[in-house]
Formats: sequence, C-alpha cells, structure tokens
Amino acid sequence: MEAIAPDLLARLKSAKHVAVLTGAGVSAESGVPTFRDAQTGLWAKFRPEDLATPEAFRRSPKLVWDWYQSRSYSVAAVEPNQGHVALAVMQDLFPQFTLITQNVDGLHERAGSRKVIELHGNILKHKCLDCGMPLSLTDAPPGSPPACPCGKSCYRPDVVWFGENLPIEALDAAQAAARDCDVFLSVGTSTVVYPAAELPFSAQRRGAAVVEINRDATPLSAQADYVLRGASGKILPLIIDALQAD
Ligand code: OAD
Repeated sequence: MEAIAPDLLARLKSAKHVAVLTGAGVSAESGVPTFRDAQTGLWAKFRPEDLATPEAFRRSPKLVWDWYQSRSYSVAAVEPNQGHVALAVMQDLFPQFTLITQNVDGLHERAGSRKVIELHGNILKHKCLDCGMPLSLTDAPPGSPPACPCGKSCYRPDVVWFGENLPIEALDAAQAAARDCDVFLSVGTSTVVYPAAELPFSAQRRGAAVVEINRDATPLSAQADYVLRGASGKILPLIIDALQAD
C-alpha cells in the first residue's frame, strides 16, 4: 500500500468539490459477493441473462424473485466496512461532495452517507414491473412477487437489469458532478461497464485530478493522475487521517 502523495493531499485540501464513484470492490471487504461470485451453490447453473433481464423476470418471475430475495438476505446480513465509513466521514470535509455508486447493496447509506447517487438501483427497493411506481416491501416472503396495487403487474427489484437504461436523473446528476468536481476518486470499480466507466475520464477532461483506488489495474490506471493500489477499506481511512492530521 502506498502513502498519500503530498501533492494529492494538497489538491484534496484545496478542492471545492470532490466526487467519488464506487464499485463492487468497496463492498468486497464487507463480504458482499459480486454478481458472479454470488452465483454459487443453488444458483450456479444459471447465466446472468437467466436472472437479471426483464425477459427473464417475465418468463420466470418466481425464479428471479427468489434469486433477488436471496441476494437481499446476504446483504442484510453484512455490515459496512471502513471504506464505507471513510466515505461517510468525507461528506463533511469538503464544501461539496458527491457520492456515486454502481453498487445495489445500500451499504453507503447504512454507513451514514446522506445522499448517494445509485446508478444501478438498490436491491432493497422495489417498483412495479409495469407502471414503475415505487413500492415498499416491509416483509418479503419467498415465493412469487406480490401484486402491484395498479392491478396490472407485480413487484420487481428496483435495479438496472441487462439491456435496461440507467435512471436518467441519477445519470444526469453523476455526469454533472464529474464535469464540476476538482478531484474525482474512482474506487473499487473495474471501469469497464458504461456509462459509469466514462465518468472519471469526463472529469479529467474538465481538469479534475483523477485518483484510482483499486486492488488491481483497470483501463483507468494508465490515465489516472494518481493510483493508490490496495484495499479501499485501508486506503480511504488513510486519506481521512492525512486530511485531518493538521
Ligand atoms: P467489478 O466486479 O467489475 O470490479 C470490482 C473491482 O474492484 C475490480 O477492479 C477489483 O480488482 C476491485 N477490488 C476488489 N476488491 C477490492 C478492495 N477490497 N479494494 C479495492 N478494490 C477492490 O465491479 P464494478 O466495477 O462495480 O452492473 O462492476 C460494474 C457493474 O458491472 C456492476 O454494477 C454491475 C456489473 O454488470 C449492473 O448490475 C448493471
């Protein structure tokens, strides 16, 4: 793991707006399996297209419902880690701070982040498959998805499935933050899934310093202004310590 470079620290200290994009790596230390890691055991025989598309849900609602219920239970059973906590601390250290996530696990909110732009939705939230109305589900028994009060269709998880568009308001807000920020942190994301992967490049074109925090190299690594190689649960708290040191 590397120390925080003095010039990076100086850029952070003078930043008016810091934007952060997180991916599955941020939740890895909490034990949240990535989509493919989660496809073990009972679920190993299914391909992502069998479980995470609108067509799959219409074809086999019970199967897809049970799969998402099992993912929700795994997420509910884990805790935010030091990386999530550090990002929640960070929101009060800059005049403006924007947290954008591709994760659907809700762990940023649970760690105390007040406003999170969720680009790919949230598995703990639901909406109607047909009318799109947000629906709350306090008790989610396994079995078939409950019917929507609209009478036309049923509950579905409020996540972005393969072949679906990202929620436009969330995408607009994320792109605006990328254009406006002085420092952009790309944390625990493979930077391969668009349009989220475009955000750090867009920030850099507008003059922001781009910092990659990742255990492994990604397509962003060669272009990032700073690369901090290691676990986000270790590096993000180091940034907080450095910012608060004097
Ligand atoms: P990926 O699983 O593609 O990438 C996770 C990244 O985190 C990899 O680059 C790992 O090397 C890195 N990593 C793992 N553990 C880490 C740790 N402890 N600290 C720092 N980095 C670590 O996840 P995403 O980039 O989030 O989309 O994937 C993007 C999207 O692809 C997902 O949101 C999902 C998927 O298709 C949808 O569901 C729409």
